[in-house]
Amino acid sequence: MTSRTQRLDRFISQNSAYSLSDTHLLLARKRILLDGVVACSIQQKVTRFTHVMLDGQCLQDNKPVYLMLNKPRGVVSATKDSRHTTVLDLVQHPQKNELHIVGRLDFNTTGVVLLTNDGAWSRKLSSPESAITKTYEVTLSQPVTDEYVAVFRQGIYFRYENVTTRPASLDILSDYTCRLSLTEGRYHQVKRMFGFFQNEVLALHRVSVGTLDLQGVETGQSRLLTPAEPGLV
Ligand code: URA
Repeated sequence: MTSRTQRLDRFISQNSAYSLSDTHLLLARKRILLDGVVACSIQQKVTRFTHVMLDGQCLQDNKPVYLMLNKPRGVVSATKDSRHTTVLDLVQHPQKNELHIVGRLDFNTTGVVLLTNDGAWSRKLSSPESAITKTYEVTLSQPVTDEYVAVFRQGIYFRYENVTTRPASLDILSDYTCRLSLTEGRYHQVKRMFGFFQNEVLALHRVSVGTLDLQGVETGQSRLLTPAEPGLV
């Protein structure tokens, strides 16, 4: 199974008895199909998810999987753990062992966790340039005030990484609850931002990632994304 994008001639030489140069002949004789279409150039790109047929035989048939889980408290954002239930333990899918997590949540944080076997997608989602909005509902030990709104909008300096957080938007819902939207995902970011005010986060719930929210997905349940959804985040 290939994990990266390759040129067609290289893919053929690595996945059949034919050589790089044989590929020209195979193309001239229309013997290769990429996603059901006759291939026409050695330069064509073959990703891990391109369906490749040669002389009626399938050389590659990997399906991308995109899944959203509503993570409960007390579940580890890992694929394996000897002591605790993992997010993967909660997923039922024939390809579940190929999946990795896009953006972990802490043990007691609940809400949206995305899983996929598509490394290009998860890299894109996690890259700072994509600036995907992640929204959290936060319950605090001390009242939240308007001062937080201004400070979070300006950014908070994190000494350890020597960075200032990106402008974040905060909606105060009640004295002790608020909704925070971030476009980055640093280690324990939400807790550290409220830590700036010595205000402990008692409960944290990720409501959405980009356009993906938990509508219709009960705690502990997961659903496959529809074909259009991965392109929207
Ligand atoms: N920020 C945190 O502090 N914890 C999480 O689980 C997610 C974001």
